[in-house]
Amino acid sequence: MGRLISLVILLSVLCSPFLSTTYSLTELISESNGFTTDLIHRDYSVISPFYNSTSSHRDRVTKALQRSKIRADYFSLSSFASGNIPSADMIATSGDYLMKISLGIPTVQLNLNFDTGSVFTWTQCAPCKNCFPQNMPLFTPKLSSTYKTVAANSKTCYSIVEADSHAKDNTCRYSVDYLDKSYTRGIVSSDTLTLNSTTGSPVSLRNFVFGCGYNNQGIYERSTCGIIGLGIGPGSFVTQMGPTVGGKFSYCMISHDHHLNTSKSSKIHFGERAAVSGPGSVSIRLYFYENAYFVSLKGLSVGKRKLDSFDGKIAVDSGATLTYLPKKMYNSLQAAIKKEIKLKAAEPVDKLLRVCYEFPSDGKMRGIPVITLHFGGADVKLSPLNTFIRAYDNVYCLGFVPGDDVAIFGNFAQINFLVGYDIKKMIISFKPTDCSKQ
Ligand SMILES: *[C@@H]1O[C@H](CO)[C@@H](O)[C@H](O)[C@H]1NC(C)=O
Ligand SMILES: *[C@@H]1O[C@H](CO)[C@@H](O)[C@H](O)[C@H]1NC(C)=O
Ligand SMILES: *[C@@H]1O[C@H](CO)[C@@H](O)[C@H](O)[C@H]1NC(C)=O
Repeated sequence: MGRLISLVILLSVLCSPFLSTTYSLTELISESNGFTTDLIHRDYSVISPFYNSTSSHRDRVTKALQRSKIRADYFSLSSFASGNIPSADMIATSGDYLMKISLGIPTVQLNLNFDTGSVFTWTQCAPCKNCFPQNMPLFTPKLSSTYKTVAANSKTCYSIVEADSHAKDNTCRYSVDYLDKSYTRGIVSSDTLTLNSTTGSPVSLRNFVFGCGYNNQGIYERSTCGIIGLGIGPGSFVTQMGPTVGGKFSYCMISHDHHLNTSKSSKIHFGERAAVSGPGSVSIRLYFYENAYFVSLKGLSVGKRKLDSFDGKIAVDSGATLTYLPKKMYNSLQAAIKKEIKLKAAEPVDKLLRVCYEFPSDGKMRGIPVITLHFGGADVKLSPLNTFIRAYDNVYCLGFVPGDDVAIFGNFAQINFLVGYDIKKMIISFKPTDCSKQ
């Protein structure tokens, strides 16, 4: 086999031309105002392949903390360390959410890790040379009538991978190495992608470009079959959906309790349906680089108390549960929280959850100050529901932790916000929303 080609990570500045040009390939057959599908929390959603009805609340929290830690470690490596790994994507698993899609005709259902920190979508393909065990049948190109490989000398191949002029058989090969040493290698392909829309009939995209992975190794899990990338780049899912979706998507994550009590699911919207507007919505300049979405962070307030100002960036991440703050900022936050909250303190739950209280047993979160994040351009006010994670019984702990030179706005703090990304205008919007009512 010839030299494998590395995935080129295209920064946002390079992306806008692709939105309008490259993806004439892809055609969206759907209602014109967009569509909505389930965004599945791996441990809390009853439709998740990972859902275990006998898991305790504590088990689920522990798993989420482990994933958060892995994710933060790699964020810190990828975005802030001096190491230069231009072709490395984020980590292969460890995100909290999944999306179900179908590929090919006839369709084959796949559970993919949802990642706003990836720019490429791939799945394992048969016949596989080296695949990790997978519960669902492998996608088999031979069985799909609409499957095509992308030619090495095509514009699509050039836009997605670094061209390999020595490709013997004119197949466009890709190779993605994740920072955790997982990797996937295979053939850049296209096929029909179908999503179940909760607002109408299923939505199909013809000629969706993805990686057919024939050589995949790492810390993958049986219940998933690859990654769906919502970052910005020509191979990204949103970019490929082209003009019909107009670079817009939004998600609304429901609380962990709502999952368990109501069997509801979080949702992700695309196209006009994804627009975030109306009372309470704020918009902030969005950046995308090193495979992550960022906003600028100027400081935070606890109740009416404004803490030291700050001038930095914070990654808005769908995969990490907790919110990571630069150490100095975290220390001021912790001091302010301890000053404001008069509840009985509880023992730290583990290394991450260190600021814990016994909340009133009626579940009402009284006496918890609002934490306001002062982003560059607008403020976002977080209710106790976003800042205190229930560890066990009525013990709740601060879901903000100190990061190693890394700042991440995690998904727990985004619960009950409609979070909208507009990758054409490069803005992100937040609107407080009861996500269980969508
Ligand atoms: C489900 O959770 C229980 C309790 O933690 C555990 O003993 C069991 O092994 C889990 N089942 C699966 C399939 O992971
Ligand atoms: C879509 O819904 C149909 C009917 O409920 C189901 O059979 C199929 O597996 C679903 N596909 C996905 C990708 O969720
Ligand atoms: C979910 O159910 C638990 C126990 O039945 C209850 O304490 C909690 O308030 C409920 N949460 C929501 C959001 O309905």
